[in-house]
Amino acid sequence: MEIPTVRPRRLRRTPALRGLVAETSLAPRQLVLPLFVREDADRPRPIGSMPGVVQHTMDSLRAACTEAAELGLGGVMLFGIPATKDATGSGALDEAGVLNRAIAAAKGEVGDATTVMSDLCLDEFTDHGHCGVLDADGAVDNDATLAIYADMARAHAAAGVDLVGPSGMMDGQVAVIREALDAQGGTDVGILAYSAKYASAFYGPFREAVDSSLTGNRRGYQQDAGNAREGVREALLDVAQGADIVMVKPALAYLDVVRRVRDAVDVPVAAYNISGEYAMVEAAAARGWIDREAAILETLTSIRRAGADVVLTYWAAEAARLLRA
Ligand code: PBG
Repeated sequence: MEIPTVRPRRLRRTPALRGLVAETSLAPRQLVLPLFVREDADRPRPIGSMPGVVQHTMDSLRAACTEAAELGLGGVMLFGIPATKDATGSGALDEAGVLNRAIAAAKGEVGDATTVMSDLCLDEFTDHGHCGVLDADGAVDNDATLAIYADMARAHAAAGVDLVGPSGMMDGQVAVIREALDAQGGTDVGILAYSAKYASAFYGPFREAVDSSLTGNRRGYQQDAGNAREGVREALLDVAQGADIVMVKPALAYLDVVRRVRDAVDVPVAAYNISGEYAMVEAAAARGWIDREAAILETLTSIRRAGADVVLTYWAAEAARLLRA
């Protein structure tokens, strides 16, 4: 039997050696915490399929933002749940609407201590649950939706947002939003574009989180799971239109797309560890089938390893605490 002369195990012997040669870092500043705010909530409401995540009141949102800043998180991503929804999602444009108020509340609370980001999309606001307005045939009307996104961007900027996150997958959305922001003096407001966004079964728990009553599906605008090249194409288009950060979503089933986008663009890349990915780990851990904390850190590390500079995760605050311990 031959004695090995090359022994990779040498560098795995002690925690110090392992730390010395660790290729991938995971730090609170790289994590973004998504937060849901519900207009008519008088107390934080638990979301059944996302244990530990709630629909916030305006007050509990402020507290969560303060905590995020104290933990050194890179940012918070805000989602609004209006009390009433309609066909055009008019609550999205109301200055006193839930998301615009939430942005102002968050920004007033944390200032520049962490980054305040907003989901710029209509699905939380429409009664049909689609990311845009519908045409006479019931299909999502791309260009009519763009005009509303431009107005939403102006409203979010007026409320003080740092980065808007267009997530509706309408063609041309980044260009239209950039133009709208620049035209009203919002040149400092950045765009975190949900660039490669796939039609995914893993968004399931998010529907409960935002009380969505989606009829049909999003396959007419979100991408097909089998298409990686197309994800790169979408990211390149968004960079050309002025995206400051491009995002791949979901993360875990699309780590190859994260890597390909990372290699193709020179702006920061984000990945969204979404609701269903969170729910899978929580459900298995609740049954004692996996070690929850280890699974959380392994999940987030794998997304960073694939090439994400920034990770959106419902575990952001908890991971920050684990990383400090
Ligand atoms: C669209 C949006 C969705 C998510 C973030 N932004 C839902 C969708 O596109 O169907 C999903 C986030 C998650 O599942 O955690 N506004």
